Amino acid sequence: MNTLLKVHGLKAGYGAAQVLFGVDFSVEEGQVVTLLGRNGMGRSTTIKCLFGLLPPSSGEISMDGRRVERLASHQLAKLGLGLVPEGRQVFPNLTVEENLIATARMRSGGKLKPWTLDRVYGFFPRLKERRSNLGSQLSGGEQQMLAIGRALMTNPRLVVLDEATEGLAPIIRAEIWRSLGELKAEGLSLIVIDKNLGPLLELADKHYVMEKGVVVWSGDSAGLRANSRIVHEYLGV
Ligand SMILES: Nc1ncnc2c1ncn2[C@@H]1O[C@H](COP(=O)(O)OP(=O)(O)OP(=O)(O)O)[C@@H](O)[C@H]1O
Ligand SMILES: [Mg+2]
Repeated sequence: MNTLLKVHGLKAGYGAAQVLFGVDFSVEEGQVVTLLGRNGMGRSTTIKCLFGLLPPSSGEISMDGRRVERLASHQLAKLGLGLVPEGRQVFPNLTVEENLIATARMRSGGKLKPWTLDRVYGFFPRLKERRSNLGSQLSGGEQQMLAIGRALMTNPRLVVLDEATEGLAPIIRAEIWRSLGELKAEGLSLIVIDKNLGPLLELADKHYVMEKGVVVWSGDSAGLRANSRIVHEYLGV
């Protein structure tokens, strides 16, 4: 397997408050990986560093073996990183269609089937029905579909979802999990953060458990299912 993303010894924080103390993890091409942990353990901070939104104080981030921790967000998008951010952050004053077109980017080459507006509408028919509505007029579930669609329109190789289903009704959550399963099936790599362990155990190939800014455990779903101490101690469930 080809390592798509590798994070090594990542340290970062906010002003004097250090939050990450040497985070290590990697994503193989086509893999779904989770970052698990209780509130405030540094998952979103790690994601901000990945996307050039927070400069790390030290450590390495590589894509395809190439160091990227000093690149700007638009350069990272060009390399194939797509973000579905915490809080979704759809453009409230643009329509659904304008939101989708705003980030559209064709990537040349690659094995993944390209994403177009029509393909996103086929993937999330709800977005097609709402194509002329403003971002601000959407329900939470529709906003999350739009955030995912917007990331797909960049034709990414790795999509990161920070709080994939937070605040969504169970039926919408199920729809999001279904969509992530389909994306995985076609070979897209994913990093998924979510509080619902059950669907993550079904979907993911590898889990990284974070505690106070470091990874304290990693393994596959069978390993995590079998390790009730880790689940209880670090995930609090
Ligand atoms: N902009 C910020 N300024 C200062 N401190 C922050 C900022 N964002 C996060 N922190 C702090 O950094 C620590 C890690 O936060 P982070 O958002 O990475 O956690 P998390 O693992 O994503 O958890 P959750 O999303 O469940 O809150 C927390 O103590 C948080 O209070
Ligand atoms: Mg977070």
